[in-house]
Amino acid sequence: MTDPALADAGRTRIAWADAQMPVLRSIRERFGKQRPLEGLTVAACLHVTAETANLVTTLTAGGAQVALCAANPLATQDEVAATLATEPGVAVFARHGEDLDTFAGHVADVLDRTPRITIDDGADLLVTLHAARPDLLEGLLGGTEETTSGLVRLRAMQADGRLDCPVLAVNEARAERVFNDHYGTAQSTLDGILRATNLLLAGRTVVVLGYGPTGRGIALRARGAGAQVVVCEVDPVAGLDARMEGFEVMPSLEAARRGDIFITVTGAPAVLGRSHFEAMKDGAVLANAGHFDVEIDLAALREIGGDGVPVRPLVSQHVLADGRHLNLLASGRVVNLAAGEGHPASVMDLSFALQALSVEHLAAADGTLPDGVQPVPDDIDREVARLKLASLGVQLDELTAEQRRYRRSWE
Ligand code: ADE
Repeated sequence: MTDPALADAGRTRIAWADAQMPVLRSIRERFGKQRPLEGLTVAACLHVTAETANLVTTLTAGGAQVALCAANPLATQDEVAATLATEPGVAVFARHGEDLDTFAGHVADVLDRTPRITIDDGADLLVTLHAARPDLLEGLLGGTEETTSGLVRLRAMQADGRLDCPVLAVNEARAERVFNDHYGTAQSTLDGILRATNLLLAGRTVVVLGYGPTGRGIALRARGAGAQVVVCEVDPVAGLDARMEGFEVMPSLEAARRGDIFITVTGAPAVLGRSHFEAMKDGAVLANAGHFDVEIDLAALREIGGDGVPVRPLVSQHVLADGRHLNLLASGRVVNLAAGEGHPASVMDLSFALQALSVEHLAAADGTLPDGVQPVPDDIDREVARLKLASLGVQLDELTAEQRRYRRSWE
């Protein structure tokens, strides 16, 4: 399925990432000795990147068989898939740019391996498993979820009484929250936009729709690069926070007239729609940094701007009736992965260390965890942060006995 000739290039790329992933590496070494996943099949639906390859080999070092498909076909690095296909104990079902039917077939292929543990980035495995392969629930020890959008789906299932296994919310672990969105997604979103467009940010107006941790990180970095930043929000506290940080805050329809570059990062559908497109300046750039390609209303864009003409790789230009051009990046898919390489490896080091230890926790719990979305145990969070600090040669203070006593007393 993948071109074996690419495997050498993939190996070099994976090694480059691994050099930035000391925490995962130390877990891989321990897994190699202790084999905590011996005999378990793990199904993973993740972005097929060099960083993910290093997670996969950590799991196989621990004794697991891993079946991998892609969480987003545009993020698949074919040379990485080719390398992984040569690894013992790994089955890869992913090709860059595969269509939706192929993608669905690959999810089914991975589930056909009868996983005991799932790793999701967007909940496709667990949603499909519950809907199409409920026979697998019997042997399933549980799953993990890597992204906010996946947890939203899983919690909606749980609220409907339809989630029949434990899921560890890796996305909400402290070591993940602090780094992933603010540093990883924020930097790589701007990186993806710049790779796709080669625009200068200085002097432009960048409109950031959504001021969660990712939106905040994007806004700060765009300002650091010399852009004028406008923030659009629906939440009063987030809106106030943005204003206090010094950003202009205004409704999206007003911002539509002002922006040169629009970045959606809300998790909600159609935050940029027809009325926004009609108000935008000639040459405006539209990018989505949210997990699903729903934040820019693509149907409305096609309705008023046609199917779009490719003007650079990953840039399609839509022409409005009066001749204005709107430039859509990466078909409205998550731009940091579709036009860039996703989070840098040093950020994924933390995420995937959390994933590896969460999988180990599910295996050790051996089916005793309650069904439903639940936090990653705090000791895993602390262990990952401790290992990262150790890799950086950073030491911390400890509370003195007197300080501990003071904090415990109420008088
Ligand atoms: N999610 C975001 N960035 C990623 C990366 N580099 N690899 C895998 N998953 C990711």
